[in-house]
Amino acid sequence: MRLLVVVLIFFTAAVKADPHSFSNSDLVSHPHLNLDLTADFAKKQLSGFVELELEWHHPDTRELVLDSRDLTIGRVMGQTREGSWQLLPYQFGAKQADHGQALIIACQQQYNKVRVYYQTSPNASGLQWLSAEQTTEKQQPFLFSQSQSIHARSWIPLQDTPARRLTFSARIHTPKSLLAVMGADNSANTERDGDYQFKMPQPIPAYLIALAVGDLQFKAMSDRTGVYAEAAWLDKAVAEFADTEQMMQVAGRMYGDYAWGRYDILVLPASFPFGGMENPRLSFITPTVIAGDKSLVSLIAHELAHSWSGNLVTNASWHELWLNEGFTNYVENRIMAAVFGEDRALLERQLAVQELQAELAELDPADTRLVTDYTGRDPDEAFTQVPYVKGMLLLQFLEQRFGREKFDAFLKHYFANFAFQSMNTERFLRYLRQTLLQEPDTVSFGEVLEWLNQPGLASTFVAPQSDAFAKVDQQTRRWQESGELDKLLTEDWSIHQWLHFIHQLSASVRPEQLAALDQKFGLSQSQNAEIASAWFKQAISRNYQQALPHIKTFLLQVGRRKFVVPLYQQLAAMPGGKAMALEIYQQAKGGYHPLTQVAVERVLKL
Ligand code: BES
Ligand code: ZN
Repeated sequence: MRLLVVVLIFFTAAVKADPHSFSNSDLVSHPHLNLDLTADFAKKQLSGFVELELEWHHPDTRELVLDSRDLTIGRVMGQTREGSWQLLPYQFGAKQADHGQALIIACQQQYNKVRVYYQTSPNASGLQWLSAEQTTEKQQPFLFSQSQSIHARSWIPLQDTPARRLTFSARIHTPKSLLAVMGADNSANTERDGDYQFKMPQPIPAYLIALAVGDLQFKAMSDRTGVYAEAAWLDKAVAEFADTEQMMQVAGRMYGDYAWGRYDILVLPASFPFGGMENPRLSFITPTVIAGDKSLVSLIAHELAHSWSGNLVTNASWHELWLNEGFTNYVENRIMAAVFGEDRALLERQLAVQELQAELAELDPADTRLVTDYTGRDPDEAFTQVPYVKGMLLLQFLEQRFGREKFDAFLKHYFANFAFQSMNTERFLRYLRQTLLQEPDTVSFGEVLEWLNQPGLASTFVAPQSDAFAKVDQQTRRWQESGELDKLLTEDWSIHQWLHFIHQLSASVRPEQLAALDQKFGLSQSQNAEIASAWFKQAISRNYQQALPHIKTFLLQVGRRKFVVPLYQQLAAMPGGKAMALEIYQQAKGGYHPLTQVAVERVLKL
């Protein structure tokens, strides 16, 4: 019993430990909020109020501490238990780089509700305001939010911690010709009148609050899935993502029923800083995955997978991003196997491991541990292949040892047991020990700890190996030994095989050889963004100069951080490349999302 108490205290302390939030959510929290915001595209500003419905956890607490970043506060009101409203004094805490600042509201009593009237900054880190010219159709402006990791606070003053959940209702006012959508109860039949109302009845962490406003059209894919996009993308996206319904069905069978009602996809402008974002009921997706051949739809499987891992069971702090992303990469790969076959899933795993290994070589070893410490740092820096791929590999290791059947049952129960709760690694380990690890002589606790705590790959890692890639390797060798490009029999290569080929090009490949490859296969002009970005990385590091104009075009069109940041970094490292990188960046910057700007400026040391 005493042990249990100690463990519980430790666990409670661990769950509260979110150094990226100023909030006092252990003393008072807001399980529900109401938003009323107007989008002003001329001023690039959201203005209005948030009304926080409060739950007080301690009788002596008289202060509500929220997170905020670059917000202008109009006034703060508190509603008494009797229902009357009072003006409340407030003050800001010190500004902390990448974290924003505390908004400290003094309460004379434990108010029912607190209402904060505010305006966002045109540079809010969690919003991108695009002019009409920056959209695909070029007719209407566009706005979208990206709240993960700690950017919700730049457009809503709230307790911005993944350790807490809330439901919300919202009313969004926009110019009449535009449609607003949220990670909430969107409806295909919404009248476009500039006044939109939403409800999100399932409790979510703050980083999943999401809004977009644009000239959006809708097309259904099944009775619970559909696409929102600018007109130019709509049919292409519907064709590309046609397997979404089937993905939902297989995931539901493996991991329990889909908990969120509808699942729609919002196609964003190419400046979207991520591949995708798992906003509940409405994944936000980069148009760079619309390749025309479904070759990159694992990204949809990924964002859908978050409906279980991340959105149902949520990492309690950003140190433990692996609990969201590692589980999601694992589930994504299982969905891909079920819909597109085991062979493709194996290729995707192997490519993922290649990307991980490339990144492990670059990272500080401390950041290659699954549980890392991001205290005092921008939690967006945790976005590396480590939580994603190393996390996935740990689960694959468990699956291999225990067998798929037992491991599937374990995961299904894990999602059911901890649905709508926060998770940390301690808690996960405790559950693992109580369940799977009970089976003797299969996996030792030490083996699991090695994955979690040691840098790099664990000694129990088994590299995925596919025949399809072995074939590519064989042909590559023949080409390099003979110098004859005809030895590459590429007609039936899949996009995955091409990616493997590009990843594995050896350091000894000369610029002339890259030129010959490019001439024959048009790699610099590839319309597949994964191929283009992998190829450009090789081009820069092997000094293949003719690719540079194409790299520039790419950097001016696409704002996805994963693609553009490494390219700028590599360009700047080239002899004489810094000036070119700066010149391209000056031209591209206006079209980039604030988060992409921050990341590029970090690598260019601006
Ligand atoms: N939730 C992430 C995006 C994210 C992570 C935003 C960390 C901010 C901080 C999303 O689900 C994601 O993983 N996107 C990937 C997709 C890929 C792994 C299929 C991306 O954007 O590249
Ligand atoms: Zn993810």
